[in-house]
Amino acid sequence: MTVPLLSAEGVSVRFGETLAVDDVSIALRPGAALGLVGESGSGKSTLLRVLLKLQPVSAGRVLLDGANITGASEAGLRPLRRAVQVVFQNPHSALNPRSTVHDPVAEPLRILGGLDRTRLRDRVAGLLTDVGLGAEFLWRYPHELSGGQKQRVCIARALAPEPRPLLLDEPTSALDVSVQAQIIELLRGLRQRHRLSYLFVSHNLAVVRLLCEEVMVLRQGRMVEEGPVGQVLEHPREAYTRALLSSVLPPGITDLLGAEDGS
Ligand SMILES: Nc1ncnc2c1ncn2[C@@H]1O[C@H](COP(=O)(O)OP(=O)(O)O)[C@@H](O)[C@H]1O
Ligand SMILES: [Mg+2]
Repeated sequence: MTVPLLSAEGVSVRFGETLAVDDVSIALRPGAALGLVGESGSGKSTLLRVLLKLQPVSAGRVLLDGANITGASEAGLRPLRRAVQVVFQNPHSALNPRSTVHDPVAEPLRILGGLDRTRLRDRVAGLLTDVGLGAEFLWRYPHELSGGQKQRVCIARALAPEPRPLLLDEPTSALDVSVQAQIIELLRGLRQRHRLSYLFVSHNLAVVRLLCEEVMVLRQGRMVEEGPVGQVLEHPREAYTRALLSSVLPPGITDLLGAEDGS
């Protein structure tokens, strides 16, 4: 069994009376894509923040490459801060309105060092091209971009330090439905091109199927079901999971499903 890139073992998170995460174990393996689904308030984002070490745990452990980082200092978390990147739900609040697109994508590269100004700009342009934008976006401001374009910039920024794995917290939920399929298609292509591993958080099981092989279902902070995504979709053990399955797919998604069936 390969050592997970990033994992949590028996983690719980308590906010006062609320047990937001209740004794959950999760492992992200090299090259794998895991979907994390559950209704709003089921603890998905809290679990993701635990894995990012942005949220302290009440119990349990977090491991990076098999090493326990639960009690690590900020200096001890430097490898995690580079190796694990995240794309959040709302791209509108994720970008500084006073900075052009170049700066947020260049920032993680600047911290890593080793690139002069020209090579840094070329690398940023390359990342923008990779997410379907291109060098002509380098000097644009966020207010000149659509929601989908802003989310592409956030994805480029997350890809810059070559993360393993990439964590995605409902990355299409704040976008127009017409744009959601395009972002999902982008994430599928990026995964193939860069052999990325994903933790993809969504409340839509059908969308998870397009990106992930495995799925974990959370309900009120507890893991209620996990397994291969096809198996969970076709034979959900829980009525709760069946209810999540009835969520509507964004338009354009059926084309992606069709392409999958045809291959
Ligand atoms: N910082 C916080 N303080 C207090 N309660 C929180 C905090 N963050 C999340 N919660 C609570 O924890 C539960 C899980 O929230 P969350 O992880 O955001 O769920 P999801 O992402 O699945 O919608 C909810 O009951 C939420 O209200
Ligand atoms: Mg959430």
